[in-house]
Amino acid sequence: MPQLWATKSMSALMQEAQEEGAHTLKRVLGPFHLIMLGIGAIIGAGIFVLTGQAAAQHAGPAVALSFVVAGITCALTALCYAEFASLIPIAGSAYTYGYATLGELVAWIIGWDLVLEYAFAAGTVASGWSGYFVSLLQDFHINLPPQITATYGSVLYLYNAHWVPLASLPEGVNPAGLRHVTGIFNLVAFAVVLMTTAVLVIGIEESAKFNTAIVTIKLSVVGIFLVVGAGFLLQHPHLAAMHWHPFIPPSQGPGKFGLGGITAGAASIFFAYIGFDAVSTAAQEAKNPQRDMPIGILGSLVICTVLYILVALVLTGLVSYHSLDVADPVAVGMDATGARWGSILVKMGAVFGLGTAMLVMLLGQSRVFLSMSRDGLLWKWASKIHPRFRTPYTSNIVVGTLVAFMPALLPIDRLSELVNMGTLLAFSIVCAGIWVLRRRHPEMPRPFKTPWVPLVPILGILSAFYLIWVLPALTKMIVAAWFVVGLVIYFTYSVRHSEVQKSLRSR
Ligand code: ALA
Repeated sequence: MPQLWATKSMSALMQEAQEEGAHTLKRVLGPFHLIMLGIGAIIGAGIFVLTGQAAAQHAGPAVALSFVVAGITCALTALCYAEFASLIPIAGSAYTYGYATLGELVAWIIGWDLVLEYAFAAGTVASGWSGYFVSLLQDFHINLPPQITATYGSVLYLYNAHWVPLASLPEGVNPAGLRHVTGIFNLVAFAVVLMTTAVLVIGIEESAKFNTAIVTIKLSVVGIFLVVGAGFLLQHPHLAAMHWHPFIPPSQGPGKFGLGGITAGAASIFFAYIGFDAVSTAAQEAKNPQRDMPIGILGSLVICTVLYILVALVLTGLVSYHSLDVADPVAVGMDATGARWGSILVKMGAVFGLGTAMLVMLLGQSRVFLSMSRDGLLWKWASKIHPRFRTPYTSNIVVGTLVAFMPALLPIDRLSELVNMGTLLAFSIVCAGIWVLRRRHPEMPRPFKTPWVPLVPILGILSAFYLIWVLPALTKMIVAAWFVVGLVIYFTYSVRHSEVQKSLRSR
């Protein structure tokens, strides 16, 4: 009989941590680098693409409030994450924390959930990347066949030598008079995932300096947009007054504007915050993990929350929210200021920044897969290491190929909703975990303590479930199916191959 609540011992975890690189990894990262690491993983397709879509479809200018709501949900979880990261300061993720404290079945659920989160997030970011990349090419008069730049069934219109969706057409332009085509397969997004997978297979040197350089570029692009956009709005206050009025557009049905639209928008742009948990994977390289992991997790989240709210305000001030349902909304906002150079800069920054965000997501995915496979919870091929590149190439190639089909076939909003639901579930388990641990193991040393336990974890769980509740029913059904598949794998394969179960049986 398998022991579903068996935990992995701390000594086993510490030993593995050493095997996996304590000899090679230097403890060089301080609070600054950890914050940069978090920002590097957080800023991506969420702010660059989904902000516009959430404004157009759900919240209007009040998408800024959606960012506040989603930010609060994340902050509650981040406080719990911070306690976990300081409690178990080895490289890991919620999966590792769960295995050490809550038992194998919960760890499996979190791990399976994280695979969904990272794999679909990589697909979502690839979809965002393709939108900016195609738009950038068009600025240089390179027009790819539109059928291979959009998902099946989406209609693009030829306007001003650009293939654009309906929402990008200026008011008064009659689409019936324009040439149009229907998308078949987003080959651009498909190809970029395969290329990123190839980079992962060959292996990348993650270095703090490289990451800091990339994050600086991303932050600069966001900063330039804010400065140019806010400067323009200060010179043209009537524009903001017109576009922000009414700030909360009247409700047009469930999840469409009004107060319900703000929460529906929050459930949609929640994606923009995903990634602060990535800081925990660098625990072994942190100089003082117990003190600095919480700073990295919470610091990156706070900085991104402020930036996101500002971007949402400036963007919806520059352009009517009706026109933001496009693949490159931040560039559209920049265009409105007349700064053509700025728009090209935003697109270049997005192509670069989203490319690296995709890499981080696929890397996160492969780390979780690797850990689960080494623990015997997933098939051995998933942890097969390439003799020369020393990367888990089989799992990279299998998962990368599957991920590549996602943005090729599904629109970005559908993909991101799946990620959001999976992540919200993982977050609520992390919150519950902190509460359970406080009761079961009050004696464990906690360099960082989540304040007001159990209030903060309870609020974290409730807010996560509220956002899940407002997600579309189809999303919930797909994620439920994902878990059913996961549980079938767990009970047919994992329980028999789990290293922890094996060691229990041999006792
Ligand atoms: N937060 C990351 C993004 O927005 C996943 O792309």
